Amino acid sequence: MALPVVLAGAGAMGRAWLAAIAADPAVELTGVADLDLGTARRAAPGLPVGTDVVALAAQTGARAVIDVTVPEAHHPVTTAALLAGLPVLGEKPAADTLARALSLCAASEVSGQLFMVSQSRRWNPRLFRLRAMTARLGGVASAGTDFFRAPHFGGFREQMAQPLLTDMAVHAFDAARFVLAAEPVEVSCRTWNPSWSWYAGDACAAAVFEMTGGARYVYHGSWCTPGSETSWNGMWRINGEHGTATWDGENEPAGPAADEPAGPAVDGPVPPYEGIAGALRVFADALATGTTPMGEIHENVPSLAMVEAAIHSSDRGRPVTIGEVLDDAYAQAVTGEQHPDVRAALRGWPSARDRLGLG
Ligand SMILES: NC(=O)c1ccc[n+]([C@@H]2O[C@H](COP(=O)([O-])OP(=O)(O)OC[C@H]3O[C@@H](n4cnc5c(N)ncnc54)[C@H](O)[C@@H]3O)[C@@H](O)[C@H]2O)c1
Repeated sequence: MALPVVLAGAGAMGRAWLAAIAADPAVELTGVADLDLGTARRAAPGLPVGTDVVALAAQTGARAVIDVTVPEAHHPVTTAALLAGLPVLGEKPAADTLARALSLCAASEVSGQLFMVSQSRRWNPRLFRLRAMTARLGGVASAGTDFFRAPHFGGFREQMAQPLLTDMAVHAFDAARFVLAAEPVEVSCRTWNPSWSWYAGDACAAAVFEMTGGARYVYHGSWCTPGSETSWNGMWRINGEHGTATWDGENEPAGPAADEPAGPAVDGPVPPYEGIAGALRVFADALATGTTPMGEIHENVPSLAMVEAAIHSSDRGRPVTIGEVLDDAYAQAVTGEQHPDVRAALRGWPSARDRLGLG
């Protein structure tokens, strides 16, 4: 039987999710919530609409929520859904701050409900193959992503303090953790905004991360540099002991073939689906089977920690460790938590680093 779901947020990306839901027989849409009821009605004519996703789920018999609201609404919308007993598949970023993402980890623990973040760019068969090639390189000296595009979105991105890092680089950071099978340790980052930028915040960034195992991950990107644009996944190069792997973000990656004896292969299953359709299918399968999917909130948080650490490094003009960023976010999460059970769950952690396995 198809899983009945409600969608929260019927903006640009919400409409892409409506198409993905319609195309997947494993899920069935029962209603659309948006603060703007006209937007909800236009997105799904004839279906029940509302401004409160939990009330709409109760009214329509939905058993899960897809949260595609703006980043600052992710925490309140997802918390309300989880605590009402509804599992959530949410758009990236997990929350607008790392502290609120930690609160969502605890809300998931308290409610016993799955909260999976849809890092849509992880669900890409070519990224899985790049990961397998990377494992054959032996030691990795460095990996890099160049990301250069010039989109005019309007809306919330043009008002954010760090639009490139917060809204876009989180995809590349998340993919880097996956490709390198490593976690971030420390970052040095600079962000800036060229005179011609149409963004209020910094649309350019250069960041060097130290990863567990010693590899460096180098991200260089801009959202306001027209000409020779890269793909939305960026241009990748991984430099290893026994060779190099490259990927243009669109076509097949190039690197050591499967029979080259360079290192342990980690081929694993390559998913037959990609993007948000992949995330949706994995979420529905996880609920049906009780398995924990990639993108589960605790697993996703280090990607957001990379964003916040990079921003702090740029603001403070010095390298910043992931550990210090997590410690600060944890203290803020405990102090700022409104819900007593969620606060108690947070207080029960030895530390955020330990809870996330990044000790
Ligand atoms: N994975 C990707 O490639 C990708 C691409 C684009 C956007 N996104 C993400 O999708 C999310 C939405 O982005 P968008 O471009 O659609 O934004 P948008 O501004 O076009 O739409 C967001 C919608 O959410 C609604 N909303 C806000 N608060 C709400 C609440 N509390 N309850 C219900 N509805 C609420 C707004 O009214 C609006 O209609 C963001 O988190 C963004 O980062 C992901």
